[in-house]
Amino acid sequence: MFGLEPSLPAKKALNIFKENKYSKIVELGAGLGRDSIYFGKNSINVTAVDYSENGIKVINEKIKKENLTSSISTLKFDIREDLPFESNSVDACYSHMLYCMALTQKDLDKLNSEIHRILKPGGMNIYTVRNTDDGDYKKGIHRGEDLYEIDGFIIHFFSKDKILNLTNGFKNLSIDYFEEGSFPRKLYFICNKKNWKIILNFYIFSYTLELIKDLDQQIFLSLLLF
Ligand SMILES: C[S@@+](CC[C@H](N)C(=O)[O-])C[C@H]1O[C@@H](n2cnc3c(N)ncnc32)[C@H](O)[C@@H]1O
Repeated sequence: MFGLEPSLPAKKALNIFKENKYSKIVELGAGLGRDSIYFGKNSINVTAVDYSENGIKVINEKIKKENLTSSISTLKFDIREDLPFESNSVDACYSHMLYCMALTQKDLDKLNSEIHRILKPGGMNIYTVRNTDDGDYKKGIHRGEDLYEIDGFIIHFFSKDKILNLTNGFKNLSIDYFEEGSFPRKLYFICNKKNWKIILNFYIFSYTLELIKDLDQQIFLSLLLF
């Protein structure tokens, strides 16, 4: 679908995984597996998720052929449902051009919160999207929000504001512009880190509020922590 070689974002993501000593990741919307196979070959333990039966079949064949059964597993699954992983169990989630599929803002908010739930504290969500500079933006049939249908295929286009509004519980580390293919598609590479400080501060805050009865001191504590 998008070539056999690993994508540019996968190469960039692998460096981030290595720098942060991440070894257990989930790829969402893995397609025909070009990036999952690359991660698996580079000693990353991957679960490749996609709702396409054919996609999962192709990835399974590649895993067998490349002898990667110990590092890659697959899951046929619709990511609009609750993700079937334990809370705080995954080092990183990675997706290349999944967020910009036919997913509404409501779907994306839910996906983001599910990714936040399954990531370990300090874990990362790395994803790419087609952006509003793309030549296809506002072409074809408008399907609500920033979704446009072109040749029967719905694409959700992202501005930087939309990306920054989708960071609930995360700290945005970067939004990098890049291009892919001969058209070329114009995309952003986004890196969001699960904000363990907010979670920790919330617990400290709740606990300390129980102890402090003075309103001024409560306000001071709120300003200090958030
Ligand atoms: C644009 S393709 C990118 C594939 C792959 N990441 C790559 O770069 O080669 C998007 C992928 O997301 C999958 N996808 C779209 N919506 C999905 C959903 N709701 N649940 C699971 N997978 C989905 C599609 O089946 C497709 O394989």
